[in-house]
Amino acid sequence: MRVKLLFLGDICGSSGRDMVKEYLPRLKRKFDPTFIIANGENSANGRGITQKIARELYDVGVHGITLGNHTWDNKEIFDFIDQETKMIRPANFPEGTPGNGIMYVKNGSQELAVINLQGRTFLPPLDCPFLTADKLVEQARKRTPYIFVDFHAEVTSEKQAMGWYLDGRVSAVVGTHTHVQTGDERILPNGTGYLTDAGMCGPSDGILGMDREAVLKKFLTQLPVRFEVAGGPTQLNAVLYQLDKGTGKTVKIERIRIDTSHPLME
Ligand SMILES: [Fe+2]
Ligand SMILES: [Fe+2]
Repeated sequence: MRVKLLFLGDICGSSGRDMVKEYLPRLKRKFDPTFIIANGENSANGRGITQKIARELYDVGVHGITLGNHTWDNKEIFDFIDQETKMIRPANFPEGTPGNGIMYVKNGSQELAVINLQGRTFLPPLDCPFLTADKLVEQARKRTPYIFVDFHAEVTSEKQAMGWYLDGRVSAVVGTHTHVQTGDERILPNGTGYLTDAGMCGPSDGILGMDREAVLKKFLTQLPVRFEVAGGPTQLNAVLYQLDKGTGKTVKIERIRIDTSHPLME
């Protein structure tokens, strides 16, 4: 028996949520995941998350939600993040920031530690994600062999560095934030499953999920532009880790990509 961990990349707007609602039941039937974690930083119209949306995700089977640089975009978050036990924001935000950066989710007798961190390259200068990881991983290892890290970062090098830094100390490291799934899934030599970016759940034909016209206007004019989530076909990007039941190490990793504009990929 293995512990299976399904992770859904950044859920972007209502179309991303609809993809999760439509396809998660099928993924559950196919893979029977022990734990389902999702990044929800863009789930409220591309900007942050609301409590209602979080409830909807829990209702379809998501055990825990991670966030990222868009954590605070929907101001409602300040009303509920401190009460949330199944939602975390990057742990290396400044001391005293609302919310937590580590959570433990349970399924029966199994417990998964989930750690959320944010990179610092081309993103705000937070506390060091590597040193923050050291502290939280040490704490988690006292409690469970199953430890999952969502590293929300812009650049591949910082994500690869985190993968190698944590190899053998955590079950899995996944990157989020770029919204484009990478094809470099692998098991590192000491048993950590690694993927540079899971990709997102949301529009296929936007630019990183946002309406193309607005993004192009921004690039062409450099004027301030309000981005909206794009319409059209949609995709779901995810990754499934199978973990050894004793050691918590990854024994199999596979990417999942469903795109309604490419029906054969289903
Ligand atoms: Fe995102
Ligand atoms: Fe992000």
